Amino acid sequence: AGRSPRLAPVTAPEVVAHRGATAGAPEHTLAAYRHAAAVGADAVECDVRLTRDGVLVCVHDRQIRRTSNGRGIVSALHLEELEQFQFGARKPKGRSRWADDEILSVTDEPDVENGLVLTLDRLLQYITATPGSLRLAIETKHPTRHTRRVEEALVDCLRRYGLLGNGRPVEWAGKPAVRMMSFSQFAVRRMAELAPGVPTVQLIGKRLRPVRRELLSGSASAVGPGVALLRSDPGFVAEAHAAGKEVHVWTVNRPADMDLMRALGVDAIITDRPDELLRRLGRD
Ligand code: G3P
Ligand code: CA
Repeated sequence: AGRSPRLAPVTAPEVVAHRGATAGAPEHTLAAYRHAAAVGADAVECDVRLTRDGVLVCVHDRQIRRTSNGRGIVSALHLEELEQFQFGARKPKGRSRWADDEILSVTDEPDVENGLVLTLDRLLQYITATPGSLRLAIETKHPTRHTRRVEEALVDCLRRYGLLGNGRPVEWAGKPAVRMMSFSQFAVRRMAELAPGVPTVQLIGKRLRPVRRELLSGSASAVGPGVALLRSDPGFVAEAHAAGKEVHVWTVNRPADMDLMRALGVDAIITDRPDELLRRLGRD
């Protein structure tokens, strides 16, 4: 099996804006990514899924109803169909869906600045327009039957933007420009084989204990536990470092957790509130 490259060592945690800067703008919109850049985040995170016609789009959920005024399953819709809907909704507190008038920027014809579903291609256009301003962490969402095609489509997309590297990461200011993340060990391994120049992050859900050793010896450059897991098992950070893995923790929004994660020495903190995190790190 391939082994993806080490990420550059960091002395302070990298600030990663989750789905863009989600507290400042609707998730996975160009506005959210621009907001992340404006507040000074080091990197941004996005989730990607394949459309029926094989295009990677930045949509978190399997279905589109939470983040658009449409209905349907991403993998069952063609890009052209997704482009009929308005994306860019703010999540109403306590509700999982909203009325059409709660969708931001509703216009007759969505455009890329104004509610058009964000493709990974468009996000990469934005990111690479100013190389070095924002690094990108791409999480592949993975209904099992699509896993192989998702990773292959991702490799194609990164190649088009010169981000695949040649066995070594493309670096911006001494750090890898892009990395791939997944909860699926299969997907991480597959990416390390397909794209040995792209660092990978093995995301970890709640079930750490049964797979701990396997995760720490796997092909990924880094492990990505949830914040709750590190709160209850803070020793995992040192254990991961001793195994040669960076620790990228998600999704850290409470100030007390930000301080704790910093004290634990994690390498990257994924947050909806990059401005608050930067302030707490003394970088505002
Ligand atoms: O960065 C990992 C984190 O984004 C995983 O959770 O549900 O926001 O994709 P989710
Ligand atoms: Ca994600």
